[in-house]
Parts: sequence; structure tokens; C-alpha cells
Amino acid sequence: MERLAAPPGPRRQADAVAREAERVLAANWTGASTVPSRALYPHQWSWDSAFIAIGLRHLSPLRAQLELRTLLGAQWGDGRVPHIVFNPAVPKGAYFPGPDFWRSSTAGRAAGAPRHVETSGIVQPPVHALAVWLVHRAAPRESWRRSFLAHAYPRLRAWHRYLTGRRDLGGHGLPAVVHPWEPGMDNSPCWDAPLARVAPADPASFRRADLDAGAAADRPTDLDYGRYVRLAADYRDAGYADGVPFPAFAVEDPGLCTLLALAEHAMAEIALALGTDPTPHLDEAARLTSALVRRLWSREAGQFLCRDVRADALVPERSAAGLLPLVLPGLPAGIAAALLRTAQGGHFGLAGGSGLAPSYDLLGTAFDPNRYWRGPAWFNVNWLLERGLRRHGFVDPADALRSAVVRTAAGSGFAEYVDPRTGRPHGARDFSWTAALALDLLADDEPEGGL
Ligand code: SER
Repeated sequence: MERLAAPPGPRRQADAVAREAERVLAANWTGASTVPSRALYPHQWSWDSAFIAIGLRHLSPLRAQLELRTLLGAQWGDGRVPHIVFNPAVPKGAYFPGPDFWRSSTAGRAAGAPRHVETSGIVQPPVHALAVWLVHRAAPRESWRRSFLAHAYPRLRAWHRYLTGRRDLGGHGLPAVVHPWEPGMDNSPCWDAPLARVAPADPASFRRADLDAGAAADRPTDLDYGRYVRLAADYRDAGYADGVPFPAFAVEDPGLCTLLALAEHAMAEIALALGTDPTPHLDEAARLTSALVRRLWSREAGQFLCRDVRADALVPERSAAGLLPLVLPGLPAGIAAALLRTAQGGHFGLAGGSGLAPSYDLLGTAFDPNRYWRGPAWFNVNWLLERGLRRHGFVDPADALRSAVVRTAAGSGFAEYVDPRTGRPHGARDFSWTAALALDLLADDEPEGGL
């Protein structure tokens, strides 16, 4: 464990939090990757693994490397990194939709799905290049010995090309998501309007396993699930082909686009370390950042918004995803200042309540403090905001957010999410990325190398 940031008094408390976080990550380790939560999510999830590796690097750089290698080992021939890699040892009914729903090795054959492992067919935000770079930096000698960067680099390049190529459904240089699970914020109110066009699957055609482990009031509704199932089944039945037919749901999300631009900054660092020209990655990061500003920035809202690609219109709902571009180095200073004002204002109330930003507008009509991505505060979002505040020199709010993340993570039993007004825990406990990212903020790090 690296030196802890806290002064000597609270140092003991910080050590205790770090030990608890370590316990969570050890309990959720399967031997080749980490489950997000033993009960609710018993397989490997894509963006979870990236955030987990970022924290795990402080405990075991080797485990962090293996986490990412396992995920990249399930990459498809077309470059996509699937959002779930299924563990064959887990009983069939433990998670829905499982491998017999996605049928990747058969339905995904034309898209190059692997034969040796079953996966889902959709994606999640590309946090992986950043994770690879930060894991490398934690133990460069171990990394070089295992050719960690050389192994990951071409795979990450193919992954990013998939997103900017086949997934540029709007034709304006930004990837689109084709399922609400892809931006990772499953039931965000931002999807309500675009999702309303989707006819839900027959509720009798599937059984929700998530309600065995989670409270119904904390989870998406049955109607949402019917639509998730319909979209995923249609995508599968079209062989996971992109763009043809044009998907019923297609959205440009500022969170996913930001993480891709950030990933290109990390790719520049990786390229440089490998003795390759970093310029194409820096150019790509700049191109993505300006496309993000051009397509998704709203001066009136003081934040970025989602764009419904079918309607070619911004969605007038405030998601915390719209604050995440703050993490980008190339963001115009005026926009960074506006994002800080919005984060601290009434819609996100960063300075009040639990000290954490909610996932959705505190003043929005759809705000629900308990229900998954319709209001609760999540730790990965707040970790990214902390990094962004620090990057742009907003040191006091960054320090306050760092303390709030660590305090609330430990105080909630490493909850999956919390009520942003009170810090009351919801969803799963002993949640892996909550533990990993608290651990990361306890380490005395400045943002570097793409972050
Ligand atoms: N988050 C989804 C679930 O709740 C899938 O990625 O299962």
C-alpha cells in the first residue's frame, strides 16, 4: 500500500478503511477477475473491472494486471469488449440475462465473438486504457516483465476503433450506445424518452434474477426490464450487427464519450512508453473532445446533455454523466468553470447532503433517491468528479469530495450506491468498485497520465 494522504491522527482510520476495502476485494476475487458483488453480479463486468483494477493496483499490481487481461481475453473480432464475461462455474439462474440469453458464441459469430468463453453482446464505457496505464505505473518492472503494455495496446486500439467506427451511428464522430446498459447508467431518466419507442418484451418470457438479491424499490422497474430485454434480443437476433437495421435506441452519452477521450490520453502515454508515436492518440483525444463540445454541450444547462440520435435532439434531463467531461485535460476553461458551478448548485448540490453528487438532478421531476441511476450517488461517478476537480485546480472542492467518498464508502459498508442527501446505503454491500476507488483516493496520488 502506498503512503496514505491523511495526517497522523486520521491515519489510523484511513488504515482501517484500507484494510476493510482490501477484505472486500479479496472476498470478491475469483482467481482471474473480481465480481462486482457476489450476490447481485456474479460474473465479470467490463467497466467494473477497469475501476476495480485502478484500486487493486495499490494492493496487488499482478492481480490488477490479470483482471484486465481476463477481460481483454474475451474481446470480439470486431474489437468490442463485451460488458459481461460469464463465469461457467456460476449456476445458470444466478443472473439474468445469462449466457443462454446472449448466446454470443453462436449469435455473435459473424461479429467475431470468441468460442472459448460466453459473453454478453453489448459494451460498457471504455475505462480500460486508463486502467492499463495506471496499473502499469503502479509496478512498471512487473509490467515490463509480463509485456503487459505490449499485450494490451493493440487490443485497446481495436476496442477504440470499434467505438469510433461501427458505433458512430450519428455520423458526427461520437460513438452511440444502443442499449441503456451500455453507458452503465441503466435506468437514467435520460433514457425515458428514447426508450418509450421500444415495445417491451412479454414479462412472462423472462425471470428477473436481480430481485432475488436486491430490493425492488432500489432496482429498475419491470417495464424498464421488458424494454431492456427487447432491445438486447433484437440486437442478438440481428447477429450483433451495428447500424443495420438502425437500432430503436441510439444515444450519444457524454459519460461514455468522455471516458473514450480520456482513454485516448492514456493511449498516448502507453504508446510513448512502448516507443511508438503518441500523436495519433493525442489528435484523437482532441477530436473527441471538440465533438463532445459541439454535439453535447448546453450553455443554457451549464452542463453536457445526452443526444437522442434518432430524434437528433438533446435530451433535456440532467445526468451526472453531463459533468464528467471535467476530467478531460483539453476542456476549455470556461466550460470547466461552468461545470463546477453546476456541480455545486441546486441540481447536484455537491457541497451539501452526503457531499457526493447524485446520479441525476436533485430538482428533476424523475428524481428518486433510492432507485439505481435515477438519483442515488455512485462512487465511480464521484471518483471521476474528484479527479476532474483536482485536474482543473479546484483543490478545495476536490479535497472535500475525496473525504466524502472515503467516509461514505466505509460508513455505508461499501454500498453499491447511497441516497445523495443522507449517505444511506442502497443496493449491494461490499461492492467491489466502491472499495477499490476508496482505496485509490486514500493513496497519495495526483491525477496523471491521462488522469
Ligand atoms: N447493470 C445491469 C444489471 O443490473 C447489467 O449490466 O444487471
